Amino acid sequence: MNDARGLRFPEGFWWGTATAGHQVEGNNVHSNWWAWEQEGKVADGSRSGRACDYWNRYPEDHALMAAHGHGGFRLGLEWARIEPAPGRFDAAALSHYLAILDDLRARGLRVCLTLNHWVLPAWFADRGGWLGRDAMQSWERFLRHVIPEVAPRVDLWVTLNEPMVPALVGYLIGYHPPCRVDPLACAKVFRRLLRAHAIAYRLIHELARAPGGGPPQAGFAGAVQYVEPWHPTGLSSLVERPLARAFAQTSYRAWEESVLTGRVALPFGRGQRVPDLAGSVDFVGLNYYTRVSVRLGLDTLSNVKAGQFAVPDGLETTQMGWQVYPPGFHAALRECWERFRKPIYVTENGCAADDDAQRRRYLVTHLAQLWRAIQDGVDVRGYMLWSFMDNFEWREGFAKKFGIVAVDHGDPALPRLPRQSAELFREVIAANAITPELVERHAPGALEQWPVEGW
Ligand code: FCB
Repeated sequence: MNDARGLRFPEGFWWGTATAGHQVEGNNVHSNWWAWEQEGKVADGSRSGRACDYWNRYPEDHALMAAHGHGGFRLGLEWARIEPAPGRFDAAALSHYLAILDDLRARGLRVCLTLNHWVLPAWFADRGGWLGRDAMQSWERFLRHVIPEVAPRVDLWVTLNEPMVPALVGYLIGYHPPCRVDPLACAKVFRRLLRAHAIAYRLIHELARAPGGGPPQAGFAGAVQYVEPWHPTGLSSLVERPLARAFAQTSYRAWEESVLTGRVALPFGRGQRVPDLAGSVDFVGLNYYTRVSVRLGLDTLSNVKAGQFAVPDGLETTQMGWQVYPPGFHAALRECWERFRKPIYVTENGCAADDDAQRRRYLVTHLAQLWRAIQDGVDVRGYMLWSFMDNFEWREGFAKKFGIVAVDHGDPALPRLPRQSAELFREVIAANAITPELVERHAPGALEQWPVEGW
């Protein structure tokens, strides 16, 4: 055991949860995702509709966060709400966001704000989205409008959430709008998103100060998987190992490399320079959920398309079909630290589960790996659990339950019901540690299954 009280986290560690505007607010009617949902594209036939009605229910949600001892909250702005038509800004929508942010701060919750979490205004998408001729100018106009307004209320800025998802899933795999399968377009979107990130980073530094004075803190949130070959040794591994490397390069390393060097990395470019990109992070936001085992087989491509990856026999999976692999979190944190040497915030980590006991085990085992990474010297400053409440999980609709607070979307009252995992998280925050009593009560045996040295 680390000490009598368990695995302790650093003083002042940021504990909170994460959400995204479209997934919780409701009625994001001027957006491309809204339009896409109306075509019946969501797996369970649902539409985001009123989602969790966070737009109106935020005081109640913030009160619940404060009652559970959370120190911060990650939320996003919806561009489509603020600029429903090109160049026409909705002042009421922006003031409403300011009220949401003020309410968080009044309750002592620090703010991590995402400027773009995939969703676009419908008018922007209709003009070609990130590939449109005026895309960069429109993005800059939006940012110049919102950054000065929200800045006094923002502690951490996330420029783009998981930019690889709109690029790969929207333009290569074709599962998210605009559902294209076009490698050249995908590479171009990647380059445009690098520029979009660089512009946002530059404008944040030009237009904002941190709430207490001093320079603002900005970064992107990257989706990182722990990628391994299915066969670690033997003949198949000779093919699977390079395949796994190529997968990791495409799915997250190329983005990281490009941001570090300021030049577009393979396979999306050949080193072209992107203005203002090199080193454009004050911190790195890391989203980690799962391990991906790359197996050579006839079904590999179709499985990747469906987001279904091979799962070793006997390994637990979540409601999403994703492997539960806590050591991958430790490895991902270390890799990120070794690459950037910048403070890291975990901007997402969590588990979709029908059974809250699984969510609690996931939480305890992943927090233990986070602790382990910190012991190794990785500078992790905070952890934002995905998610505060059950919400609209994109193509999967409402069926997937990521919340530590349950929301019954079939009930017109949308009641919020904290699960036992919310209580577990409250206790971790109160102790600033994972203690034996807490594990015994909430996730017995979890750390025997996925041990960490020092426990
Ligand atoms: C991430 C997204 C987030 C949520 C989780 C489950 O890729 O950023 O919005 O859907 O996955």
